[in-house]
Amino acid sequence: MAVSRKMLDFAQKASWIRKMFEEGARLKELYGGDNVFDFSLGNPDLSPPPQFYDTLRSIVVQTGQGRHGYMPNAGYPAVRHAVAQQISQEQNVSLISDLVLMTCGAAGGLNVVMKSLLDPGDEVILLAPYFVEYNFYVDNHGGIPKVVQTGSDFTLDIDAIEKGLTEKTKAIIINSPNNPSGQIYAASSLKALGELLEAAQNRFHHPMYLIADEPYRKIVYDGHAVPSVFKAYRNSIIVSSYSKDLSLAGERIGYIALHPDMEDREPLQGALTMANRILGFVNAPALMQRVVGHLQGLTVDLGVYARRRDLFCTILSKSGYEFTPPKGAFYIFPKSPIINDVEFAEILSQQKILAVPGQGFGMPGYFRLAFCVEDHVIERSATGFTKAIEQAMDKNRQNSEET
Ligand SMILES: Cc1ncc(COP(=O)(O)O)c(C=O)c1O
Repeated sequence: MAVSRKMLDFAQKASWIRKMFEEGARLKELYGGDNVFDFSLGNPDLSPPPQFYDTLRSIVVQTGQGRHGYMPNAGYPAVRHAVAQQISQEQNVSLISDLVLMTCGAAGGLNVVMKSLLDPGDEVILLAPYFVEYNFYVDNHGGIPKVVQTGSDFTLDIDAIEKGLTEKTKAIIINSPNNPSGQIYAASSLKALGELLEAAQNRFHHPMYLIADEPYRKIVYDGHAVPSVFKAYRNSIIVSSYSKDLSLAGERIGYIALHPDMEDREPLQGALTMANRILGFVNAPALMQRVVGHLQGLTVDLGVYARRRDLFCTILSKSGYEFTPPKGAFYIFPKSPIINDVEFAEILSQQKILAVPGQGFGMPGYFRLAFCVEDHVIERSATGFTKAIEQAMDKNRQNSEET
């Protein structure tokens, strides 16, 4: 077999989204696209803001020698400066542009961070439910993912994290607002996490890094805000992108930002720059760097996501589903009404509703719905959700009668 056993195994483990994609294609073929309620993909469907197109047009007409050549591997200095200023505001900490490195999206940024931090066998804590790709990014660079559960409403469980820390722990990845739960970790929880990591560093005599994956930072509801990780802990690294808040997922543009007071800051800056180069990214896309440099702080029309979130919450609660309303991101993560989330996803698909089982996020017993679809798709799915929960309840009744 040409393909490595490891990759075959990975493909098997990450098969949920692909399975849903295939099921979606099958259902759409059978019933027509309009009659299938596909909530499986977190692919932003809103248009970027008008300023994006204006900026893009004004940049593409500019010519000049070297405009399309190689650049410093960390990105254009002017763009890094603009991003540093924006992060300084968001994090309430003063950042210089040396602390920012432009990347190929958050995914590229996370790989660059892992490559720079990990020695073989180093452990990285992941908090379930998590973005499934973290497992692969950690493994790509010789690390070992260690999964720790969050609390009942997906908030940080500091005691559980403490139990997960060992002398091999090098980093912990947090993602707030969270994919898939939509939870935002409170400032008090981040402070407690910072204190825990500080104590663990002293105990194990080496730095432990807090990696905050924040591509959904600006997508928040009901006036919620995402607290500053830089305020909570000095050895912290932010990874983010414009994939979600500007709907530029295909353009592959994001960044890494380091805390100004972090330990081993200079060698880490050098390692990140080199990792960006030798992982083959070389540098983040030139055109998109120039564009986002002018669009700091802008977002897509968040009112649309807020309206869809409310629609989903109304439909799901009317049908009797249990869920924690998302505070941010564009996902909702209800409890499966039967224990087996895969079986429930199948019941949903009989109603032409596509959802991803919680198993795909390290948390069985739940399912994820992405609201990157038009309002009418959510509205028309209501009957299907009601029928699916009724079928699940019947199943539960039959099972309890049999036992
Ligand atoms: C939590 C999380 N992190 C990272 C990414 C990757 O984002 P990007 O497109 O910026 O690489 C995603 C994409 O869905 C995500 O949900």
